[in-house]
Amino acid sequence: MIKEIVEGKTQLFVHAGLPTKRMEVFYNPKKEFDRTLSVKILKELKPKKCLDLLCASGARGIRLMKEAGISDMTFNDANPKAIKLLKKNLKKNGLKARVYNKDACELLYALHEYFDFIDIDPFGSPNPYLEASIRFLKRNGVLAITATDTAALMGVKSKACFRKYHSIAKRHPFMKESGLRILIKHVVETGAEFEYALKPVLAHCTAHYYRTYFIKDPGAKRADALLENIKCLHYCPKCGHRGYKACAHKESISIGPLYAGNINSLHVDDEFIKSLNAEDAYPPWHYTTTELARLFKLSNEPATNELLKKVKGVRAHYEPKGFKTKFDIARIKRIFKK
Ligand SMILES: C[S@@+](CC[C@H](N)C(=O)[O-])C[C@H]1O[C@@H](n2cnc3c(N)ncnc32)[C@H](O)[C@@H]1O
Repeated sequence: MIKEIVEGKTQLFVHAGLPTKRMEVFYNPKKEFDRTLSVKILKELKPKKCLDLLCASGARGIRLMKEAGISDMTFNDANPKAIKLLKKNLKKNGLKARVYNKDACELLYALHEYFDFIDIDPFGSPNPYLEASIRFLKRNGVLAITATDTAALMGVKSKACFRKYHSIAKRHPFMKESGLRILIKHVVETGAEFEYALKPVLAHCTAHYYRTYFIKDPGAKRADALLENIKCLHYCPKCGHRGYKACAHKESISIGPLYAGNINSLHVDDEFIKSLNAEDAYPPWHYTTTELARLFKLSNEPATNELLKKVKGVRAHYEPKGFKTKFDIARIKRIFKK
């Protein structure tokens, strides 16, 4: 069943129902937050020639045209029913755009055109579209990537993570963050293979998906410099240590390789993006109050706001009880053992 909705300032016809691959034309109302963020980001970055590579109903690309002032937008989807609905949505909003109904990679190689912005919003992993999209992104172009295969990236399906991203992912208290950084590592490595630096400039984990933005800077040396941020991490469930050297406990596990550098530097007037930038001023690998209660055998979990003052930290967006601090676990422990 098709219904009419308003997302942001845009009217859209979309299919109603559970957002699964089996939908006639995919639409997930829970991604409105992420589409609204794209509007704010593109308003700031002002890319000229844009491509909504896997557009479905066109919800994202149409909102970017209507609300972020993008006038040159190309839409594509392999599903002919999506294209029919997209055309109806363009007409409804009085917009004109180039529309294709092709396999995404086939389209990129057939067009052989370069874009200032490419959006990859797939079912699951972005991997099938990475190489072609990176290739046809202009210098300083922006690549936006969604990944919904979070079970693989977070280590719930660790074999899938190794197969797709060539990293070891395991379940642990900050697995949402390590998953995001495994995804970023993979994009950075894919760019580097072709001598492009794909610098991560915005990245978050929200609900069931990861969303990341990269800026392309061609050059082998710049790609090499980014690769230096790729590290293997050691985490110990016994003492809570996280670091690039292991602690002495036999329980210590290895995670990665993953991207350990800065991942949020875009200046956009949005409270969530500002909080991501604030987090990025701290070392990665956040803690949670639940983890501290377990490690230090506390009868109650510490209240996050009180704790932030003690550890001079900030909230980490990955978990409601997550926080970042520059203190290591031994220093945090001393606070609780006083
Ligand atoms: C998650 S949906 C996109 C959602 C959309 N961006 C939005 O904001 O509502 C993924 C889309 O990719 C399309 N798709 C899957 N494989 C494709 C391929 N190889 N080439 C082009 N489109 C493809 C599907 O038909 C589906 O519409």
